[in-house]
Amino acid sequence: AEPLRIALAGLGTVGAGLVRLFETNGALIESRAGRPVRIVAVSARDRSKDRGVDLSPYVWEDDMTALAEREDVDVVVELVGGADGPALTTARNALRAGKALVTANKAMIAHHGMELAELAESQGIALKFEAAVAGGIPVIKGLREGAAANRIERIYGILNGTCNYILSTMEQTGRDFGEVLAEAQALGYAEADPTFDVEGIDAAHKLAILAAIAFGARIDFPAVDIGGIGRVRAADIAQAEALGYRIRLLGIADCDEGEGLFQRVQPCLVPHGHPLAAVDGPTNAVVAEGNFSGRLLFQGAGAGDGPTASAVAADIIDIARGDIGAPFSVPAAALAVRAPADAGHRTSR
Ligand code: NDP
Ligand code: HSE
Repeated sequence: AEPLRIALAGLGTVGAGLVRLFETNGALIESRAGRPVRIVAVSARDRSKDRGVDLSPYVWEDDMTALAEREDVDVVVELVGGADGPALTTARNALRAGKALVTANKAMIAHHGMELAELAESQGIALKFEAAVAGGIPVIKGLREGAAANRIERIYGILNGTCNYILSTMEQTGRDFGEVLAEAQALGYAEADPTFDVEGIDAAHKLAILAAIAFGARIDFPAVDIGGIGRVRAADIAQAEALGYRIRLLGIADCDEGEGLFQRVQPCLVPHGHPLAAVDGPTNAVVAEGNFSGRLLFQGAGAGDGPTASAVAADIIDIARGDIGAPFSVPAAALAVRAPADAGHRTSR
């Protein structure tokens, strides 16, 4: 069978993790894909950096945006980050050149996902971004495929591993916010600019993508009402605990024909008995309520090199198998334009 040839843009936490995954599970990946899958070319900022993986088998491109021009590449995997800049240029170049695109970049999808999806669909090629929401958890697949026959009533959950790591570690150890954030950065959970995590923006990117898939709506990131955890103090966590609650940063979305699309990220009090209260560390958990499936809970590692690379590789395997399905639940042009819900609208649960 013809090999599927990959170009890898970005060799940081996730990119190097993907190379390691291919080194370790390459034979298994090929057997699941049903054909050889090969990384052929790579690019990042600093060629001299030691990334703990052997890059000698691959062509190094100094100009990342040129990866898409290579004749020997079928799929471009964008793991750079940032809504715009080289990530977006690489993504657009890839799709315009007729190459499939796999990305973990929720900022880019939240801001430009509609444009990229329409481009991919017009070219008849795949755009996949499973790793962009909830790291290693196959929540996009779960909603697009597993819950495909359901009207989703509401979706909510823990969407940022860094914030959950900070809140649960402060809760368990009483340690200081800044110290725990530094630890989350060292462990590779945080964004290059961690204010995206702490201020709730990263969770909002993911919520906007999930809402589009769950409700068949166009992504509307500017309509997300965003709050972060920057003002949560150890004393707040202790007080919540004493009252029988844990503080978790939740993304919450629901959609009503009359009321519009409600999307909010905020620290919430979660009662001890609720499954989300028991979610610790960089774990994410998403609850989706379908009108026939009932309540679905997706839980697992929401950040980190291995889990995220695992989701990226699953998208690559899908492409190797010939799956070029619409990136969202329906073709991008058929996604509904939903008005944002009034400020006074509240979810009930
Ligand atoms: P890193 O910051 O660890 O890696 C980014 C990579 O992109 C580096 O290899 C860097 O090069 C390269 N890069 C950055 N800017 C440029 C530039 N201007 N030109 C060329 N190369 C550049 O990020 P992560 O691996 O953590 O994240 C990658 C993507 O995955 C992001 O979109 C992130 O949001 C997403 N993601 C991350 C998760 C995680 O747990 N870390 C989980 C889910 C998604 P160099 O190494 O040479 O500096
Ligand atoms: N910074 C993100 C988080 C990475 O902490 O959840 C995974 O998307």
